[in-house]
Amino acid sequence: MAKSYAILTFGCQMNEHDSEVMAGLLEQEGYQPTEDLSQADVILVNTCAIRENAEQRVFGRLGALKQYKLRNPGMILGMCGCMAQEKHVVARLQEHYPWVDLVFGTNNLHRLPELLRQAQDSRQPVYEIWSSAQDVPTALPVHRAGKHKAWVSIMYGCDKFCTYCIVPYVRGRERSREAEEILHEVEELVQEGVKEVTLLGQKVNAYGKEFQGARPGFAQLLRLLNGIDGLERIRFTSPYPRDFTEDVVTAMADSEKVCEHVHLPVQSGSNRVLRKMNRGYTREEYLAIVDRLRKAIPDIAITTDIIVGFPWETEQDFQETLSLVDEVGCDGAYTFIYSPRAGTPAAKWDERFGLPYEVRQERLERLNERIYLHARQRNEALVGQEVEVLVDGPSKTDPEVLEGRTRSNKLVLFRGQQRLTGWFVPVRITSAQTFQVWGEPVDLPRAQSVPVRASSKVAQLGSA
Ligand code: 5AD
Ligand code: SF4
Repeated sequence: MAKSYAILTFGCQMNEHDSEVMAGLLEQEGYQPTEDLSQADVILVNTCAIRENAEQRVFGRLGALKQYKLRNPGMILGMCGCMAQEKHVVARLQEHYPWVDLVFGTNNLHRLPELLRQAQDSRQPVYEIWSSAQDVPTALPVHRAGKHKAWVSIMYGCDKFCTYCIVPYVRGRERSREAEEILHEVEELVQEGVKEVTLLGQKVNAYGKEFQGARPGFAQLLRLLNGIDGLERIRFTSPYPRDFTEDVVTAMADSEKVCEHVHLPVQSGSNRVLRKMNRGYTREEYLAIVDRLRKAIPDIAITTDIIVGFPWETEQDFQETLSLVDEVGCDGAYTFIYSPRAGTPAAKWDERFGLPYEVRQERLERLNERIYLHARQRNEALVGQEVEVLVDGPSKTDPEVLEGRTRSNKLVLFRGQQRLTGWFVPVRITSAQTFQVWGEPVDLPRAQSVPVRASSKVAQLGSA
């Protein structure tokens, strides 16, 4: 019987993609994926350190996994990802979680096969955490979750050191992959049937900065990817506002495959708070970027990340965040209560100047309310329009309802057959809610009039 593995992933798309790489490495070693944890020979927990509650959930999960280890002592339980890069986490694991057999960090993920063998041969837990990356990861096997969409890492790490953020400590310095290697990977993906790629990086548009112009930067990379035959959509996440230079905006506008959506984290609308966060831009500068984007790409959807309850945040600061949301007219936002991370400057400030929990919670609720209002308005503006939907598959609640995304990343639901998964379907939007819109597939004769790229496969809707 083939050996089996399961990977439990917490956190962002970068982590999801790292899990795909680990799956690829394990499959190369002859392991098969399983959903049944009681049968797995290897269980890996890929962790996120960005906020306290993410860490607590991981510790809870590791506690719950002890039962599988007791029932199946030969099983290897591994823990990896951002939390493994934190010294206090490693100390806690060593002291209180002796049933965890293997711990490795974000910089030595490629060592998984060797570390797994060591853990299987050893009676002691194996810990191997590199404090920094030795190199830019390259050419690792990847088991991709989807067939028509894929994530492609283009840069790793972050040198920005925003005062609240743990990422630079756990993901290391900024480093970019060679453009040639990225292009090659995307070409291969397209040959396998992928139509949409999402370029990943902690500061994705800082891509290539360390090449100092000698090799392609982010704008040029977008243009090169746009030239790949058979690729239909290009997305990227997450850009950093200061690196959203004019050439990037122009490259987006010029490249028809780059989708009309940008997720541009702002974090706060108050200049005072932005300064304390060390974000490196003002509210006015952020709004100017949004303005430039809207002028160059009129239909662009803009989503963002916002933190409330940062140390010292006053009601006035918070009001400025609300008014920024109004000025941008956000299509959506991920919103967070500030969570102190050990080792970051803001964590020390929070001990002395932190806001009461109720204030943080109440601001989050007010902010969400405002964002939902804009999200709904932006969705309502789509009613009556025809959009191009790349179908992801049946919805979880009703197999006769399909889910997909517009180029602007709106979630669209419509009735249709499962075989349309992975196809572009022209859909007329009939109603709007806060987080999704509903529509009807457009008849084929009309479909030909919607702007679906010439090379894309337009689904035959006759029998849909
Ligand atoms: N507390 C709350 N939110 C945080 N983020 C990053 N660090 C923290 C923190 N300490 C949020 C930011 C970032 C997103 C990925 O997570 O908004 O953009
Ligand atoms: Fe964290 Fe993003 Fe700031 Fe880097 S730019 S420190 S990843 S919030």
